[in-house]
Amino acid sequence: MDNKKGNKTISGFSKLSKRGKIKWIVQNFFKEPDTVMSELMSYWHSNEEQQKILDAFSENTISNFPMPFGVAPNFIIDDKAYCVPMVIEESSVVAAASAAAKFWMDRGGFHTEILSTKKLGQVHFLWHGDKAKLHYHFPEIKQKLIEECFSITKSMVKRGGGILDIELLDLTDKHPGLYQLLASFETCDSMGANFINTCLEQFSKSLISHIQSDSHFDQDREVEIVMSILSNYTPECIVRAWVECPVSELGKFPNGMSAETFAHKFSTAIRIAEIDPYRATTHNKGIYNGIDAVVIATGNDFRAIEACGHTYAARDGHYASLSHCTVEEGIFKFWLDLPLAVGTVGGLTSLHPIAKRSLELLEKPTARELMSIIAAAGLAQNFSALRSLVTTGIQQGHMKMHLQNILNQLKATKDEEVSAIEHFANKIVSFSAVREYLEKLRLS
Ligand code: MEV
Repeated sequence: MDNKKGNKTISGFSKLSKRGKIKWIVQNFFKEPDTVMSELMSYWHSNEEQQKILDAFSENTISNFPMPFGVAPNFIIDDKAYCVPMVIEESSVVAAASAAAKFWMDRGGFHTEILSTKKLGQVHFLWHGDKAKLHYHFPEIKQKLIEECFSITKSMVKRGGGILDIELLDLTDKHPGLYQLLASFETCDSMGANFINTCLEQFSKSLISHIQSDSHFDQDREVEIVMSILSNYTPECIVRAWVECPVSELGKFPNGMSAETFAHKFSTAIRIAEIDPYRATTHNKGIYNGIDAVVIATGNDFRAIEACGHTYAARDGHYASLSHCTVEEGIFKFWLDLPLAVGTVGGLTSLHPIAKRSLELLEKPTARELMSIIAAAGLAQNFSALRSLVTTGIQQGHMKMHLQNILNQLKATKDEEVSAIEHFANKIVSFSAVREYLEKLRLS
């Protein structure tokens, strides 16, 4: 242990047993080590086998971090009913998704179309030889790269996927000697990260061996692979989701707002998010409230999905709304084009016990179907957020949930809850206001 840093650093931590890790942590970072130790251990899975599975997802695991697993029923997507699993820690998100699902259930539901499913990977390399020669011989090199990768791709090819193309990009005007192999793939029902990365690493080996053995490159054998990795930006792996109905069928909104006024305010709110990146960021964050929740519940990679979506949102040179709306000839149409690289087989989707259940709940969707479900959840979330924003304001709904969380934290009884909910119906909710209210109630 490093004495200058007290007992807060350690070498060999990863080699300690799980109990040993917790012990070291609670003794050095907490005031009540025994209490914290038993609290952390209380979240261990009661079934040792299950716990082993969870531990294997990461490193240095000491416990599990519980998150609420909820569902949003009544999603009609392409005429099929779904009960959508959602894992999210933010109150109101599942309620908002459920409300939007129910609203659109009576108006034709959500419609989707998969526009493309291409995934991408890159091999970045440095080469200082004759450019023209490299371009000229690239078709043969490409053929070799594909052939030499066949043992990796053959089962994907059997499933209908594999390598779609490999392009040579010349980036030497941006950096001396810099080239890129830009490869595209179809990965069927898997997200494909492992498959793509394995192919790319094989491409780099083949590229080196080809350039080093081919007589055309006698003068220029030096090739340096910088890195080989998939791109999480997949602008050609796109799902479109939309809802539409006559404005007259939108119904009535809070405070007597008419359907026409609602449609006008809603589409203006979208326009603002198309123009202003500050609003677009919050607007898209709301969309990802829905998307991430389903992505996590189904064992997919929410960081990849988010990173991709935000790059896509900035594809025209400025960050803008992912969703759009028109009100034309009396028809309200609201839609979203979303890049989504997800899988329903492999990885966490088949290892995480609850992710497996989520996929069963969705009746074992294909990756394309899951793209549709996730996009519909994002659109639903966005619809509900904007509906609140342009009618009652967001705080009314949020505060109900916020109040409930505060009441739980303050261990309110059922009677106290009822009385507090009534009391705060028209008042501003804050932790101190609720605490004061409960204190008074408990004294009376
Ligand atoms: C909160 O998590 C999400 C919202 O801010 C989204 C929005 O403003 O559109 C309500």
